[in-house]
Amino acid sequence: MLDIAVSIGEILKDIRENQKISLQQVSQKTNINFTLLSRIETGKRLPTKEQIEKLANFYQYDKTELLKLLLSDKIIYEIQNEEFGYEALKIAEKKIIYRNSLFPELDTGAFKLESRRYIGNKAKLTDWIMRIIENETKNIHSFIDIFSGTASIAKQAMKKYEKVIINDILHSNNIIYKAFFKPEKWNKEKIFDIVQYFNALNSNELNENYFSLNFGGKFFDYNIAKKIGYIREEIERLKPELNEKEYSILLASMIYSMDKVANTVGHFDAYIKKPIRKTHFKLQLIKTYDFNGVEIYREDANKLARKISGDIAYIDPPYNSRQYSRFYHIYETFVKWDKPELFGVARKPKPENMSKYCTVKAKDTFRDLVENLNVKYLAVSYNNTYKSKSKSSENKIKLDEILNILNAVGKTKVFEQKHKYFNTGKTDFSDHKEFLFITEKYD
Ligand SMILES: C[S@@+](CC[C@H](N)C(=O)[O-])C[C@H]1O[C@@H](n2cnc3c(N)ncnc32)[C@H](O)[C@@H]1O
Repeated sequence: MLDIAVSIGEILKDIRENQKISLQQVSQKTNINFTLLSRIETGKRLPTKEQIEKLANFYQYDKTELLKLLLSDKIIYEIQNEEFGYEALKIAEKKIIYRNSLFPELDTGAFKLESRRYIGNKAKLTDWIMRIIENETKNIHSFIDIFSGTASIAKQAMKKYEKVIINDILHSNNIIYKAFFKPEKWNKEKIFDIVQYFNALNSNELNENYFSLNFGGKFFDYNIAKKIGYIREEIERLKPELNEKEYSILLASMIYSMDKVANTVGHFDAYIKKPIRKTHFKLQLIKTYDFNGVEIYREDANKLARKISGDIAYIDPPYNSRQYSRFYHIYETFVKWDKPELFGVARKPKPENMSKYCTVKAKDTFRDLVENLNVKYLAVSYNNTYKSKSKSSENKIKLDEILNILNAVGKTKVFEQKHKYFNTGKTDFSDHKEFLFITEKYD
């Protein structure tokens, strides 16, 4: 147990004397200059973190304890001659407690990329998919995730490959990718202050707005909707003071925080018709993972395929008639913030970014994509929801059709796994299987 009445220098001297070692010996073994060591022990100099690490190693002493003592000495040094030093320390403590509370998952920091409800996301299958890709391919440096969705696969690819291309047609997904992965510096202090200001807002003092008028009492509690609408307006007002990363972080953090209080089963095709239970909204930040080798696009996959190249393309399109732009229309409206006219009970805008993969053109569109992707390998995800009872979740392309199309462009292997699927209850997924096709394309 360390004595808090003593400084880091005194503690280091105590440890050395207890072990009966001379300063000379310590200096020789740690390569820290003798005079410097003596100045540290007598409190005339503070050691650096590296020096503490060397000394802790040498003395076989708990490094963390020594580092904590060092930091506390630094704080004392800063405030000891200040008139309000102690009061400032107390305020700083409160600030730290508040800032930590912005991060919901304490051990990792904040919302992780996967902490989001998204139909058809592959978060639980990433290990299986990435392992097969690794075993079945050679010389991969660049990876394309052309229907990225939550980007759970792209995130894993970033751990293995030098370049990763991410793409999705949705505006809201694109903002999320920039927030998580774009390698651009951002000012944490500035963003913390903004979040603190947003969280201190009192809904009762805010005016009715576009968001509360359309979604209040339906997809969100009325007061929460008022707060979300007000915050969205404020983010736009603050935009000139924010760089692209900061702007994206605020919008992405809002999406992740909104998902936690949305009165839905995970998408915005409909809301739950029972009284809304979640009535408290708190904006919490996402945890960023900057990646220097990332390229981010928001394009139709078939158009993008003609402009890019890479070693492998992972392909996970929608396979049924359910359009993602309709499922996540609220996030699209929230990100674009052009306040379109909205229609129907679900308050959707006019259709935009409708995917051909959700129509009768799915098969031809898929063939066109795999023929035009300039890559050595294709990895295609597929699941057998075509046995489903509900018409809208029937697959647009059948398993053997996918196989035929892939066989025509390269040597193809099929892998399968049983998997419990995220769905809203209408469909029986008891014999649900997940497939992965690996195709080595012909030259
Ligand atoms: C099955 S989800 C992908 C899930 C993703 N692998 C994950 O782990 O989250 C399909 C995605 O394709 C996007 N999409 C649909 N049609 C598209 C198109 N023509 N071009 C680009 N993206 C498209 C949708 O917005 C959706 O996010």
